[in-house]
Amino acid sequence: MKTIIANWKMELGVRESVALARGVLRGLRGMQDVPNILVAPTFPALFEVSKVLGRSRVQLAAQTVHTEEQGAYTGSVSAKVLKEVGVQAVILGHSETRAMGETDEDVHQKVDLALRHGLHVIVAVGESMATREAGETEGFIHDQIKTIFTGIHPTKRHTIYVAYEPLWAIGSGKVPSIQDVSSVHTAIKQQLDELDILDVSVLYGGSVIPENAYEFLNHSSVDGVLVGGASVRIKSLMELIHLASELS
Ligand code: 13P
Repeated sequence: MKTIIANWKMELGVRESVALARGVLRGLRGMQDVPNILVAPTFPALFEVSKVLGRSRVQLAAQTVHTEEQGAYTGSVSAKVLKEVGVQAVILGHSETRAMGETDEDVHQKVDLALRHGLHVIVAVGESMATREAGETEGFIHDQIKTIFTGIHPTKRHTIYVAYEPLWAIGSGKVPSIQDVSSVHTAIKQQLDELDILDVSVLYGGSVIPENAYEFLNHSSVDGVLVGGASVRIKSLMELIHLASELS
């Protein structure tokens, strides 16, 4: 089954997030093969969206979490509180949170914490254009995966998603070739196998729109897509969901 993760970033308010979540549930009515769907609203919308999603097949994700369990961390949100408001998964290591100072070591700590709290994790990795042009993409991603996942021991209850999101593809309208995506995904899967982290879903993210999604979703090395801009409008989000449904 293919996965669609909708990262709503800081694009929508509470009412808009609720309306979009309701729209997705309406759009799924009568659908034969519903793909695996997760939506990640902004923090203040999580509780309201969780009430809308209820026991539906659409899962709720947060966009980050703090490294520590609890304490004097002004402006931060803990894994425990995320669970309390109905969150099931969390995005970690996104380039936009990395740009605010999140390191691979932080992501490692957050993965460990999130798993201990029973959250699924969506870990983003990806290279800059300079790294790609220097021919160092695979080495760079190898180092990211090594730091983040060494010593992590998920159980069968946990789902681990790794999203390959090249920094230069996010919000730019540029996408890598499917050959490039495929070779990075294959390397990620192999490395995680070696770390004894099995059954990982490897997703592609960066400028995914309904017009280019087929090529990614149709490829056997791509388990799904992590979508920003095209996921905040019901029309394009449902088009992506329908495509994933057909290819599941
Ligand atoms: P865009 O789909 O807007 O390029 O964003 C990708 C992304 O960052 C998803 O997490």
